Amino acid sequence: MILVSKMIDVELKGVQKKFGSNVVVENFNLQVEQGECVSFLGPSGCGKTTTLNMIAGFLEPDQGELIIKGKKMNGVPSNKRELGMVFQTYSLFPHMTVFENVAYGLKLRKTPKTEIQERVKKVLELVKLPHVSDRYPKQLSGGQRQRIAIARALVTEPSLLLLDEPLSNLDAKLREELRDELKRLQQEIGVTTIFVTHDQEEAMYLSNRIVVLDHGKVEQIGSPWDIYNLPASEFVHTFIGKSNRLNGTVISASERDGIVLRTNEGLALRASFKGRTFQSGEAVSIYVRPEKIAFSTGTGGGLQAEGRNEAQGRIGQISFLGSYAESEVLLGNTVIHVRMPSDSQNRIWTAGDTVNLQWKPEDVFVFPGKGNEAHG
Ligand SMILES: Nc1ncnc2c1ncn2[C@@H]1O[C@H](COP(=O)(O)OP(=O)(O)O)[C@@H](O)[C@H]1O
Ligand SMILES: [Mg+2]
Repeated sequence: MILVSKMIDVELKGVQKKFGSNVVVENFNLQVEQGECVSFLGPSGCGKTTTLNMIAGFLEPDQGELIIKGKKMNGVPSNKRELGMVFQTYSLFPHMTVFENVAYGLKLRKTPKTEIQERVKKVLELVKLPHVSDRYPKQLSGGQRQRIAIARALVTEPSLLLLDEPLSNLDAKLREELRDELKRLQQEIGVTTIFVTHDQEEAMYLSNRIVVLDHGKVEQIGSPWDIYNLPASEFVHTFIGKSNRLNGTVISASERDGIVLRTNEGLALRASFKGRTFQSGEAVSIYVRPEKIAFSTGTGGGLQAEGRNEAQGRIGQISFLGSYAESEVLLGNTVIHVRMPSDSQNRIWTAGDTVNLQWKPEDVFVFPGKGNEAHG
């Protein structure tokens, strides 16, 4: 049998970086396949830029190996790594025209003039700005400047494209537009890409795989679907999307029958077994996402015959947001957020109504350890 393996373009093996005694990146292991788009996602200060800067050659790892296209890169200067880079702030030279800005990297490489002309023209067409080549950066909008920064990164046909929060300085609508554009470009050119962002939706939209980071540690590496549906930790679950938290205790747990729980407010719940084992009596955090909870008019609460979880509550407030409606429902002292698709049903509910909430055991996430601590 012949094994066909994908080419690995970038590999990090046990990469570590300290600033003084502060470990900022810890034992980072990753393989990026050729043509793949991988995001580094995590809150501010978790080590995304530091890791990207090590890949770019602006910083040297204290430990571990960095391999690009099969070659060890530790100690190799940045300009020998064949990279294209785009940063959050517009890094265009203000005294150069768009053409000169984009041509800059090719000039450094002593590319012949006619070839520079052709390649700049082609890449400006690619970012859909063929008509601005004589303008100066200050004559462009923020979104146009970022497109030019992307064109400048792509014109040298880099083996690797590194993007550090390139959309963060743009307003919401432009950010979305440029995000779509980036995805199209990345797929069209097939350039291996590493994208740094603190925005989970951006990461999910753009990436084949996401590396979720917290305090310099890799929490999970997986596809957007896996990260959302099979979170490796409580941190991953709560960082990606919105979720309701209940504190409670495990009553019983087995692979066959699933997990039976009791919340601190006395509600009995059932959760599906998802590979993580629990002891009876263990304190746990219990989560369910707002869009997994349905309103119903049934009565009662706790475990239903068919295994669904049900709880009675009172609507605190309800907000209509266009494609969906979101309400806060009070279960005792706990506020539960519920998101429901926009339809005629939304109109009949108002604040103060008593409702029953239902959700499936498979939509309940249980995490160990922090069950009864305050959570920030
Ligand atoms: N040159 C530096 N010297 C000391 N500490 C630094 C330096 N650069 C970054 N840090 C620290 O390293 C941590 C990670 O920073 P960074 O990689 O920029 O995070 P992110 O890009 O995820 O927001 C932060 O705590 C930051 O304060
Ligand atoms: Mg950063």
